[in-house]
Amino acid sequence: MAKTTTRYVCQDCGTWHPKWGGKCEGCGAWNRLVEEQVESKRSTTRPSPVEFVGISGETPLAPRKLTNISEFDRVCGGGVVPGSVLLVGGDPGIGKSTLLLQVVAALARQVPCAYISGEEAIAQIRLRAQRLGVEGGSQLHLASATNVKDILNALDQFGNIELVVIDSIQTMVTDTIESAPGTVSQVRTCAQELIIAAKKRNTVVVLVGHVTKEGVLAGPRVLEHMVDTVLYFEGESNYQYRILRSVKNRYGATDEIGVFEMTDRGLSEVSNPSALFLNDHNQDVSGSAIFAGIEGTRPILTEIQALVAPTYLASPRRTAVGWDAGRLSMILAVLEARCGLIFGNKDVYLNVAGGLKVTEPAADLAVAAALVSALVNVPIPSQSVFFGEIGLAGEVRPVAQAENRLKEAAKLGFLRAYCALPSQQKATRGKEGIESVYVMKYLIELLDLLPKLPHNKAKSIER
Ligand code: TYD
Ligand code: MG
Repeated sequence: MAKTTTRYVCQDCGTWHPKWGGKCEGCGAWNRLVEEQVESKRSTTRPSPVEFVGISGETPLAPRKLTNISEFDRVCGGGVVPGSVLLVGGDPGIGKSTLLLQVVAALARQVPCAYISGEEAIAQIRLRAQRLGVEGGSQLHLASATNVKDILNALDQFGNIELVVIDSIQTMVTDTIESAPGTVSQVRTCAQELIIAAKKRNTVVVLVGHVTKEGVLAGPRVLEHMVDTVLYFEGESNYQYRILRSVKNRYGATDEIGVFEMTDRGLSEVSNPSALFLNDHNQDVSGSAIFAGIEGTRPILTEIQALVAPTYLASPRRTAVGWDAGRLSMILAVLEARCGLIFGNKDVYLNVAGGLKVTEPAADLAVAAALVSALVNVPIPSQSVFFGEIGLAGEVRPVAQAENRLKEAAKLGFLRAYCALPSQQKATRGKEGIESVYVMKYLIELLDLLPKLPHNKAKSIER
């Protein structure tokens, strides 16, 4: 007979505790334990033999489905794989429902699809669809429901639905367990049932999950290991663009991004994001350097801005927006120790323009260039891009995909590139259109760039 037990589950990390406590043993979070009832059942399944097979063999691959929203398709690794489960996470209001309604409507032009909302009524979804100008035709089926069992029954009745969007997983409930919607156990069990159904029916299931900073709803982080693909939809509320980023993908590369712009008619694809981020770049001010970056497989040029101002504080300020603060301190230390520049009596602010977050170490050189330019108040020669990682010895290290970076810079009309290239790579590769590629070995060579610097003095410190 089934026995009901009580357990306390952390809503952040999902760790179970037999007793209530203020602090989660698993992740250290406070006040996140919630009481949940579980029915423990004895295993009644009989052992079944496991069959081993060789690694090479015939497995018919179902073709991927292209939604024809190419930014979305690329992030998925070239379309969605039948039978796979995607999790699309993001802050509330970022545009997840808008994106997926557009995706589902686009795919419904080819195959039957369903959009199931646990948050909005049919009238609301229709209104939104009207505003977006999407029409799914007769193959797009809408429903407003929250019970997983009912939803699976409905899908079974239809039989031929190839993609279903569940918006959102936190609103779903299942009868098999007895905790409130949105709790970790409920979210996990609902997701499990949907995943099993997806594999069995060979349907694509897209789960929408809210991530909140306060963690009011159980974070979809507990689902990340269960699904095939995890996409995060991010953006700054002050900016119109949104980035869809793949952080896990069993069927494609990660770190891939898709860029969208939120307009009054929904999300529109941005096929040339560099142009968007360099939109109002002013070339004649000091402290601005263009970084030729790569996000996934796609090059993106971004502007790095620095401001260096005299400080009145005992310990000067170091503020970085869109860039790691620890990395900023490291680059400042290298500039001081290896290039003889002094930032100790200055406040330093660094900003990645446009609200983008840059995580690549390849941006080091652009950061250093912006800092040096801000320090001496001399603009960097116009039409220049930078990329290269900086080492503690003051060396500039080559980074991956130099060719793609140079190509993108050339495409956008840049004439000069300052970078490190692997020794075996000829400086000429990928440089068509770029007038001069300065191959750098040491950071100190950067000082030659800006005429006002007493770089000879600085150089003598180095040698
Ligand atoms: P939504 O998709 O509901 O966000 P989520 O599902 O992630 O919570 O997006 C809501 C926001 O998008 C809302 O603040 C308004 C904005 N929006 C537009 O700017 N244009 C549009 O055409 C639509 C539909 C929404
Ligand atoms: Mg929504």
